[in-house]
Amino acid sequence: MNLIILGPPGAGKGTQCERLVETFGLVQLSTGDMLRAEVASGSELGKKAKILIDAGNLVPDDLIIAMISSQIDRPSTENGFILDGFPRTTAQANALHEMLSEKSLKIDHVIQLAVDEEIIVSRLSGRFSCAKCHAGYHDIFKKPNKDGICDKCGAQEFLRRSDDKPETVRSRLRAYREQTAPILPFYDEKGVLKVVDGMSSMEDVYNTVREIILNG
Ligand code: AP5
Repeated sequence: MNLIILGPPGAGKGTQCERLVETFGLVQLSTGDMLRAEVASGSELGKKAKILIDAGNLVPDDLIIAMISSQIDRPSTENGFILDGFPRTTAQANALHEMLSEKSLKIDHVIQLAVDEEIIVSRLSGRFSCAKCHAGYHDIFKKPNKDGICDKCGAQEFLRRSDDKPETVRSRLRAYREQTAPILPFYDEKGVLKVVDGMSSMEDVYNTVREIILNG
């Protein structure tokens, strides 16, 4: 089972991936996480990516396509994968299509999380994650059970993303509208696009996505 999870920044892609990985044993391939790891490592790619990410712009297609292709080839994706944050442009969608055909793989479902833009700034300004295991939290919508302690690993250090500032979020939303939303018809025509209301509770969104995976 191979999935794509699409939606604007803050739609809940990462939140849902965390649950889907646990339930279905899929591997989450998040291009955002891969880029943040490059930034943290101080690599040349990371240095270039940081400037673009902090401005709310997309990283060039060729770098992203090479990065994702090598990840799909890893043995850990044997049970299937969820692409989170990829593809994001028409060029990436076309490259993915060719890449998967060459590997005799296919995408079973493309889940689009639909959310109103007004809610996104508040979702992202309250977001934080565990510095150790990366579990995601929110100041209002998903607090840790014990204040200051990660539910999953017990760590006490948390991080906030530098691109979650309101002005950067607005640029990211523009990039989504102009460069990513146009790929939706491509998947709709292939009959694999499923639109899910990302405004409902995390639990309701999860149950709807789970139902799509189990019953199509
Ligand atoms: P990336 O890391 O992919 O960020 P994004 O797509 O902007 O998405 P986010 O991670 O911000 O949001 P999400 O949908 O995962 O929401 P979450 O679940 O955390 O990309 C970052 C940057 O990297 C890009 O801007 C670009 O520069 C670059 N990049 C990445 N991929 C690229 C590519 N393919 N090509 C080129 N450049 C690329 O939820 C958000 C918050 O809301 C959380 O706090 C959560 O608790 C809360 N929440 C979630 N669901 C709900 C709900 N149902 N109700 C209430 N609260 C909720």
